[in-house]
Amino acid sequence: MTATMKAAVVREPGKISVEAVDRPEPGPDQVLVKVHAAGVCHTDLTALRGLVPLPLPLVLGHEGAGVVEAIGSGVTGLEAGDHVVLSITYGCGRCRQCQKGAYGLCEVGAPVALGGVLPDGASRLAKDGERLHHFLFQSSFAEYAVVPAACAVKIRKDAPLDVVCLLGCGAITGYGAVIRRAKVAPGDSVLIIGAGGVGLAAVMAARLAGANPIIVSDVNDDALALAREVGATHTVNVSTGKTAVGEAQRLTGSGVDFAFDAVGTSATIDEAFQSLCNGGEAVAIGLADFAATASVPVFNLIYEKRLTGTNNGSIRPHVDIPAAVDLFMEGRLPLDRLVTRRYDLDQVDTALADMDGGSGRGVIVF
Ligand SMILES: NC(=O)c1ccc[n+]([C@@H]2O[C@H](COP(=O)([O-])OP(=O)(O)OC[C@H]3O[C@@H](n4cnc5c(N)ncnc54)[C@H](O)[C@@H]3O)[C@@H](O)[C@H]2O)c1
Ligand SMILES: [Zn+2]
Ligand SMILES: [Zn+2]
Repeated sequence: MTATMKAAVVREPGKISVEAVDRPEPGPDQVLVKVHAAGVCHTDLTALRGLVPLPLPLVLGHEGAGVVEAIGSGVTGLEAGDHVVLSITYGCGRCRQCQKGAYGLCEVGAPVALGGVLPDGASRLAKDGERLHHFLFQSSFAEYAVVPAACAVKIRKDAPLDVVCLLGCGAITGYGAVIRRAKVAPGDSVLIIGAGGVGLAAVMAARLAGANPIIVSDVNDDALALAREVGATHTVNVSTGKTAVGEAQRLTGSGVDFAFDAVGTSATIDEAFQSLCNGGEAVAIGLADFAATASVPVFNLIYEKRLTGTNNGSIRPHVDIPAAVDLFMEGRLPLDRLVTRRYDLDQVDTALADMDGGSGRGVIVF
């Protein structure tokens, strides 16, 4: 008889339920991880709502951490008992992009990340002979996850897995957007639009980098209070009639050096770009809907304003995730402040619903 595990399965948009599915086995270059915790990222909600083109049924979850249970053939550098953060960035290590250090753009991983399979093109998830799909090489809303070995990032064993799991996606995305993508330097002025799990991590990274001012916008006062606690120098609630662009202009005179959109609508990307000084850079992190578009005045491009984006903070997972874990353990990256709610896997639908209007991050603890 096949061993089973509990997993949160999406069979149609908007519906998620915990089912007993086959406990997977790792294939070559893969590892089986016993999941200890998984954060709930807005991208889980976007996927659940059908706003991302994904094959169904799939097992959701992509911000996990746990302990290696077994390794597949060919895996080196990992063994049972290792503590790992599960990264959504898969780098084959051999393609042109990986060789340039752009693992998030890996020519093997990026094209299939939303295809419901692992990078070898196959799914290891099933239920009584029915194939289930993977989500972002991870599917960590489940008791066990089979992931490519390249996505299992070994970390120190004294770090709490129910906090550092956030480095699987959201927290390292916000951090990497600031540190890796934008390379914010001391004295740079910064605007961060949206103080959710991603935006708040960007605030922490901006403070670490020495940015000033650090202006944060949101529509939720609780989120803005949290932003001030972790490093925002100024906050603006844009539901009160004030605008992020207006505050950026008022506080800097000429606009900010860097603006990060951690919401992902056409309107917020517009705001990010409009808030820039000449030569400034707007970084699109959020993606609220795959149909969202952005357009910019060419006149602004002439004055060297830039609009770019980032996949997972443009990180090098095996360098940046352990470094962020160390910064957290030293008290310099207060990721624990992000965790405002904890759930059992059975409460996964509530955990997802609570994202709307909530502040901080919800974490499913196994
Ligand atoms: N690029 C990537 O690799 C990557 C990785 C992770 C998440 N994301 C995306 O980043 C976005 C943020 O994710 P999250 O998990 O932090 O979401 P979240 O739900 O935790 O936070 C979103 C925040 O934006 C605020 N908000 C909503 N409308 C706003 C507006 N008009 N102006 C300012 N703030 C507003 C909300 O109140 C909330 O606090 C999502 O679109 C998600 O899909 C992208
Ligand atoms: Zn590659
Ligand atoms: Zn995510």
